[in-house]
Amino acid sequence: MRIFIDTANIEEIEKAAQLGVLDGVTTNPSLLAKEKGNYKDILRRICEIVDGPVSAEVTALDVNGILAEANDLTRIHKNIIIKVPVTREGLIATKQLSEKGIEVNMTLCFSPLQALLAAKAGAAYISPFVGRLDDVSHNGMDLIEQIVQIYDNYGFETNVLAASIRHPLHIVDAALMGADVVTVPFKVIEQMIQHPLTDVGIKKFLADWEKVKKD
Ligand code: E4P
Repeated sequence: MRIFIDTANIEEIEKAAQLGVLDGVTTNPSLLAKEKGNYKDILRRICEIVDGPVSAEVTALDVNGILAEANDLTRIHKNIIIKVPVTREGLIATKQLSEKGIEVNMTLCFSPLQALLAAKAGAAYISPFVGRLDDVSHNGMDLIEQIVQIYDNYGFETNVLAASIRHPLHIVDAALMGADVVTVPFKVIEQMIQHPLTDVGIKKFLADWEKVKKD
């Protein structure tokens, strides 16, 4: 399973990259709005830090606008892939971009049918938003399970990218269900590392080590 970080914050990305387990980055307009500086400079810097796909999202809603923005974004760095919402126009644009060899991450996916269409349009990634479904009392993980099964049934190569992750258990479930990628906020990456019994165990080993004869 690949692990992406879901942020546009350079400091967080640098810290996560140091771990050596980071495979890519997802950004969106809301995440970029939290950061200071020109968004293209931020995206370029992210690409320099992480050698993997860096999702940059279009904001145009029409096909020509999406294609123009995609063209602009892909010039920033070779690691940039294009994030396009699952809409009618988004699907048309995704088909054209994927035929040109440009990787698309179809985002804001909330149903298995949207995921089916994204795969048929040639999207490299589909991003089902788990947490936002949970927020409205739908089980977000059910959507991951359905998409993984549908893609397996027909051999679609589109990667299932579990997004809108809120806590570590979302990642456990996504991994058990066979999601290809999970994109995780920095705070949750840190939670993945921690276990109180690890801390207790280290404390005990260090205390006992003091009692060991060393000469
Ligand atoms: C996905 O790529 C999105 O950037 C992200 O996961 C959205 O998460 P949110 O629901 O926490 O905003």
